[in-house]
Amino acid sequence: MSLIAWDKLLHSQGFGTRKQCQGLLASGVVSVGGEVVDNYCQTVEPQGLVFEVAGTVWEYRRHVYLALNKPANIECSRKPSHHPGVLSLLPDQFRARDVQPVGRLDHDTTGLLLLSDDGAFIHAQSSPKRQVPKVYVAVTHEPVTEALVAMLSMGVKLHDEPFPLRATHCRAIAEFELEIVVEQGKYHQVKRMLAAAGNHCVALRRVAIGDLSLQALGLDNGQWRHLGEQELVLLELPASVSHKCHGIGQRVTEQQDSRRAKQVRHRVGSGAPCFAK
Ligand code: URA
Repeated sequence: MSLIAWDKLLHSQGFGTRKQCQGLLASGVVSVGGEVVDNYCQTVEPQGLVFEVAGTVWEYRRHVYLALNKPANIECSRKPSHHPGVLSLLPDQFRARDVQPVGRLDHDTTGLLLLSDDGAFIHAQSSPKRQVPKVYVAVTHEPVTEALVAMLSMGVKLHDEPFPLRATHCRAIAEFELEIVVEQGKYHQVKRMLAAAGNHCVALRRVAIGDLSLQALGLDNGQWRHLGEQELVLLELPASVSHKCHGIGQRVTEQQDSRRAKQVRHRVGSGAPCFAK
């Protein structure tokens, strides 16, 4: 990557306008390895750059790819109206970089939400053509019966949808709890499917997207972190129809894994997980 002036670099990382970044540099709060950088015209190689702004460590990232364990009562919409927006859970720099959720979860749905400022990634992940399996655990009002599981697996007709939607995987976990995998991202899809099958969703949690599971990410409620290379590789998998393991997709071979890792390597930094804000 080519050298870049410091004010431009800070601007690209969400620290404000070029002018504001010049002010930040002049105030002496930006440093690299303990050395203050106060000349905004000074150039630097951004790739792999670790720097500090007012005591907080940052790593240069061309794009950010985040996983968040979304709490309840948080809205994913750009203009939240009744609850705080999801971006309020992240550092302000990410909002300045136009980080957006990949798809949406309802305000009362909890669990795994991806966010990024890479438009191509957001588009690819949300494209209906990709058919990325999304794994949910639903708490139901009525007991989970064999008939309910069968109906959801065979497909239910929703109002405004031309064709029945079916779960690619569905199983009872407990008397009032169901694991359900869907590949589309229709509005209130799981709740509407459960209602169409004669039950009612009391609580909904997304536990995995493709092969990326909340459990493996180790995020507590409200926590977020940058996705690592290998985790991004999992998301680049073509849709899997096998749900043999835990209701999620197939593993890649080591060869595929390292090839895909190379493809995405240029996009991400390799920094340690971070739970700032
Ligand atoms: N299905 C729903 O009904 N709600 C969500 O938030 C996600 C999937």
